[in-house]
Amino acid sequence: MMTVDLPYFDMLLPQLDRGEQDVCTAFGRHVHWGYWDEAHPANGSLHSFAAAAERMCQRVCDAGQTADGQKILDVGCGIGGTLASLNERFDGVDLTGLNIDRRQLDYAEQHVTAQDGNRIALVEGDACAMPFEDESFDVVLAVECAFHFSSRDRFFAEVARVLRPGGKLALCDFMPINAAVPFMFTQRLLFSGYVNRIVGPTNISCSRDSYVKLGEAVGLSLIGEEDVTPNTLPTYSVVRRIARRVGVHLVTAHLGTAGMELVGRLGLLRYMILALEKPTQAR
Ligand SMILES: C[S@@+](CC[C@H](N)C(=O)[O-])C[C@H]1O[C@@H](n2cnc3c(N)ncnc32)[C@H](O)[C@@H]1O
Repeated sequence: MMTVDLPYFDMLLPQLDRGEQDVCTAFGRHVHWGYWDEAHPANGSLHSFAAAAERMCQRVCDAGQTADGQKILDVGCGIGGTLASLNERFDGVDLTGLNIDRRQLDYAEQHVTAQDGNRIALVEGDACAMPFEDESFDVVLAVECAFHFSSRDRFFAEVARVLRPGGKLALCDFMPINAAVPFMFTQRLLFSGYVNRIVGPTNISCSRDSYVKLGEAVGLSLIGEEDVTPNTLPTYSVVRRIARRVGVHLVTAHLGTAGMELVGRLGLLRYMILALEKPTQAR
């Protein structure tokens, strides 16, 4: 079984297990960026962040047209936040969480319980070699995790394989604009050692257009997209706060997030939600 080094989860999981309050408030359910809007402005609190992370999760699920009675796969399911959200919102759903990290699945197992009529399965495995039958899911979700995968091509091929005809893939990820791809690629070469020590293997040089091409290559067509970059920006200050809390060095916490925040504010790195569909009939 392939494993991935995820230092941020090495830091987060013991704090979550100990019930450290701030960490539990911010990351006790979702471990991804938040979504704020005019109706829900950021106020800098950890509760505001947790609510914003739930809104992001629901937006991605809505982009995938999740509904009662479906069979849904959440790839890179973290500690089960998206599964918990789907379980609360829908009836008769058969939910599967896939994660390469057994420890996160154990945490999810202890904290997420299927409601009557729903089913939740937690499976250890790699998004690039999924342990599932062909055409077994109505929806595949990938909430802020594809940047970790060893190959987005293999991930997309696997999604196309496990989706039923007419099935949907919805994901959110950091996507540089085309002109910034060489810059993101270079900074990855220069700073990968540094980034790997906190986040683990990370590749944020796949643009929105490259994502669309990845989909087309395996027969998935784009059915929806949303650039939510401005809605995510308040996340950076929260991540800085929590990074210090869980033991990341002060300078590292600031440098690690300030660069990404800057390229986000400059419009070079976007945070996008994409939805793709598998055709109902083979072409
Ligand atoms: C930023 S976290 C997001 C977690 C979750 N989707 C959420 O939104 O709370 C990235 C997740 O991807 C998982 N992951 C990384 N590489 C993976 C792989 N190759 N296959 C499956 N999961 C993977 C990590 O273990 C982690 O749970």
